[in-house]
Amino acid sequence: MINFNENIDRKNTRSLKWDGMKNLFGREDLLPMWVADMDFRPPKEVSDALKEKVDHGIFGYTIVTESLNEAICDWTNTRHDWSIKPEWLLYSPGVIPSVHTAIQAFTEPGDKILVQSPVYTPFFHMIERNSREVAISQLILKNGRYEIDFDDFEKKLGSGVKMLLLSSPHNPAGRVWEKEELIKIAELCKKYNVLIASDEIHADLVPAPHKHIPIASLDESFADITLTFMAPTKTFNLAGVQASFMVVPNKTLRTKIAAVQASDGFSMLNTFGSIAMEAAYRHGGAWLDEVLEYIRSNIDYVKETISSQLPDLDVIDPEGTYLVWIDCRKLGLSDAELKKRILEKGKLALNFGHAYGPGGEGFVRMNVACPKETVIEGVKRLQMALGK
Ligand SMILES: Cc1ncc(COP(=O)(O)O)c(C=O)c1O
Repeated sequence: MINFNENIDRKNTRSLKWDGMKNLFGREDLLPMWVADMDFRPPKEVSDALKEKVDHGIFGYTIVTESLNEAICDWTNTRHDWSIKPEWLLYSPGVIPSVHTAIQAFTEPGDKILVQSPVYTPFFHMIERNSREVAISQLILKNGRYEIDFDDFEKKLGSGVKMLLLSSPHNPAGRVWEKEELIKIAELCKKYNVLIASDEIHADLVPAPHKHIPIASLDESFADITLTFMAPTKTFNLAGVQASFMVVPNKTLRTKIAAVQASDGFSMLNTFGSIAMEAAYRHGGAWLDEVLEYIRSNIDYVKETISSQLPDLDVIDPEGTYLVWIDCRKLGLSDAELKKRILEKGKLALNFGHAYGPGGEGFVRMNVACPKETVIEGVKRLQMALGK
């Protein structure tokens, strides 16, 4: 049993979550439950592998080894029933850099790229910073669960969209898309000739009974139009190590995106990224199962406590991810007022929903990948901020 209750002091460790609050929120005296990293140590085998490299003491140029490719293929096979080939893999320092590359490789300035809002804020930035146009199909909230409005989705796909930027599982809606939904998405993308850029960084963070399905795994014709982005960084709390991979079964697409990567000057993973990735995928399975259970109990605590003590708030129960999306709209506060109360009265750093695009207004996102004590304190602060 791993002790996820341990409170590890992360202040003054160059942590964005703990040391970057002044920049974003204008103050430092907050409990950080915002950006998506965990306050847990990764699996011991990962730290041991990194230590071994540090002790070896030479940090020269690094190659991608067959054994790294094999560790990834084994992982997608055992965890996601997806049998992939090593030659389909491309590496990158992160999913964000990969999506940028995909946008540059397969769309032109001015092209429309579809997102399903409310969605991970950088989706908007990545599209806009490449001078492409954001097209939005808003998710609909029905009985506390988000769904795709397929009529609107199809209408948008048919409006000249070139690429779908899919969040699967969806951040912040917490949905783990089901097989039928994924089939409908992919069939419509095929019909309208739209490429799927599938950001599956949260793929592993899905406890039973839900199951993540890589959209490209469902049919060869789907794989042919899909670029899948995955990483061990959310799964095993390695975001600072900066390592991820793309799975691109279609050779034409793969050659093209690899060429754009090369033209950007990217040629290799950093040594620590490649070591951490392999160790995590080879040895991290048991750790992941434990952390998912711990996170689930944190989610249950937030749900139950908010439902009994803050009845004006509605918790959207996440099927995956460690991010809890909370509907505060019944309070009738503006986004500015909601933010002010949470920061100033609650001294709590959350992500504020309006940054997630249309449909995010009046919501907040709470990261519960932290010791239970932090979650208890976070909910208490939310009560101080928003309670009667
Ligand atoms: C949906 C989604 N994509 C990408 C990222 C970040 O990816 P990376 O750190 O690999 O660039 C995050 C981080 O929170 C995320 O939630």
